[in-house]
Amino acid sequence: MALPIPPGKSELRARPTTIRATSIAFLLSIGFAGVPVRGQTTDQTGAQTVVQQTGPQLPAQKELLAEDVYKNIQVLRGTPENQFLATMGFFSASIGESCEFCHDDESSWAGYAKDNAHKQTARKMILMMNAINQSYFGGSRKLTCYSCHRGTDLPKVTPNLAEQYSAPVVEEPDVITEQAAGEPPAEQILDKYIQALGGAQRLASITSFGAKGTYQGYAEIEKSPIEIIAQAPRQRVTIIHTSNGAWTTTYDGRAGWVAEPGRPVPLLELTGQFLEAVKVDANLAFPGRIKQSFSQWRVGYPTTINDREVEVVQGDSGGIFPVKLYFDRESGLLVRQVRYTNSPVGLSPTQIDYTNYRDVSGVKMPFRWTTTWTDGRSSTELGEVKANLPIDAAIFARPAAPASGRPVTR
Ligand code: HEC
Ligand code: HEC
Repeated sequence: MALPIPPGKSELRARPTTIRATSIAFLLSIGFAGVPVRGQTTDQTGAQTVVQQTGPQLPAQKELLAEDVYKNIQVLRGTPENQFLATMGFFSASIGESCEFCHDDESSWAGYAKDNAHKQTARKMILMMNAINQSYFGGSRKLTCYSCHRGTDLPKVTPNLAEQYSAPVVEEPDVITEQAAGEPPAEQILDKYIQALGGAQRLASITSFGAKGTYQGYAEIEKSPIEIIAQAPRQRVTIIHTSNGAWTTTYDGRAGWVAEPGRPVPLLELTGQFLEAVKVDANLAFPGRIKQSFSQWRVGYPTTINDREVEVVQGDSGGIFPVKLYFDRESGLLVRQVRYTNSPVGLSPTQIDYTNYRDVSGVKMPFRWTTTWTDGRSSTELGEVKANLPIDAAIFARPAAPASGRPVTR
C-alpha cells in the first residue's frame, strides 16, 4: 500500500514498490462505518466508561524518536518517529521521485539505512535549508524542499514564458485565516450536510455500525478485506486483513494504536498528530455531532472538485492544524477532507475524497473513499454496512502486539 510514487512518475518505476509506508498508514483514515462484533451492546459511552472497559491503564510511553527506531539517522535526530515517514514522503513529493531514488535497497527496513549519493545530497540539503531559514527568516520554516524543487529533482533556473502568460493556477491556502466575504456561515453549510445525510434525528438513531469491504494500496494488485467498527460518540477500529496478517488501527475515544506485523514498531501507540487524525475520522463517523466535534469554524472561498462547486469549511479539532472539509454545494454532502501532517522539513497534506453515498438505515454514508498523501494513495470500498449492531467494547481496547511477520517489504 502506500507507495511513495509521486503522481506522474509511477511509469518510471523499474519495479513495484516494496515498502508499505506504514507509519503513516493510519492516515489512510477512513470515513464512516463499522461492523462485526461479539458480545454485549454498549450504550453510548463517554470516555470514562471506555477506559474502564478497556482494561488497566498503561504507563505513558516515552516519545519514540527516529533514532530509537532506525539505524542511520544523522541529521534528522530528534525527529519524532511519527513524523519520520511523513518527512520521507515530503522529500518524494518535493523532488518528484520515489523512495528508491535515495534508497537503492528497499528489500528490508535495514536496506533503507544504506546510503547512496542522492541520500547524501539530501542530508546536505536539509542542513542548507535549515541554515537559510535560521540566517534569513529568523528560524521560521519559510523555505522548504518544495520551495526550490517544485516536484523536480533539479530546480529550474530559467523562467518559463508559457507559464508566465498562461492562466494562473489558483493555490488554496493551507489554513483559512478568516471567514471569506460573502460566504454563508459554517452553521448553514453544516445544517445542509446533516439534512442531506437524512436529518439530525435519523443520524442520532445510529449509535454504532459495522462495515465490510476492500482496501487497496496504490501499487497493490490485490485488494485486502477491511472491517470498520464504530461506536458513538467516537470509537473506531479498522482491521485490514493483509497477506502479512491483520493491520489494525484503533481509537478508543482517547488513545489510539496501530498494530501491524512487519512494521519498524509493530505496536505503535499513537501520539500527536497521528492521534489527532484517528480522532477526526472517529468523529466524522458520527456526523450528526459534527458541529460539536470541531470548533472555530470558518468558511473559505468556494472552489471546484471535478467541475462541481464546493464550499470549503475549516474546523479545529485540537490538532496543530485545522481540518478542511469540502461540501458539494448542490447535494450538501461531504466530498473531501484535507488535513496536514507536520514534519521537520515541511507540512504534508493528506486528502480523503468521499464518494458513492448510499443509504444505511435511513442515513447516507459514503461507500467509497480514496486517501492520498505524499507517499501513497489507497482506496477503500464498502460492500456492506450494518447500523446499530451490538459491539463488544473490547474491540476498541489496545490491540495485542502482532506476531513479527515478514518485514513489511513486498
Ligand atoms: C531525497 C532523498 C530521499 C527520499 C526521496 C527518501 N528518503 Fe528516506 N532517507 C533519506 C535520508 C537523507 C535519510 C537519513 C536521514 C538522516 O541521516 O538523518 C533517510 C532515511 C530513511 C530511513 C531510515 C533508515 C535507517 O534505518 O536509518 C527510512 C526507513 C526511509 N528513509 C524511508 C524512506 C521511504 C519509505 C521513502 C519514500 C516515501 C524515502 N525514504 C524517501 C533521504 C530520502
Ligand atoms: C534553496 C533551494 C533548495 C532547497 C531549499 C532544496 N534544494 Fe535540493 N537542490 C537545489 C539545487 C539548486 C539542486 C541542484 C544542484 C546541482 O545541479 O548540482 C538541488 C539538488 C538536490 C538533489 C540532487 C538531485 C539530483 O538529481 O542529483 C537532491 C536529492 C535534493 N536536492 C534534495 C533536496 C531535499 C530533500 C531538500 C529539502 C530538505 C532540498 N533539496 C532543498 C536547491 C534546493
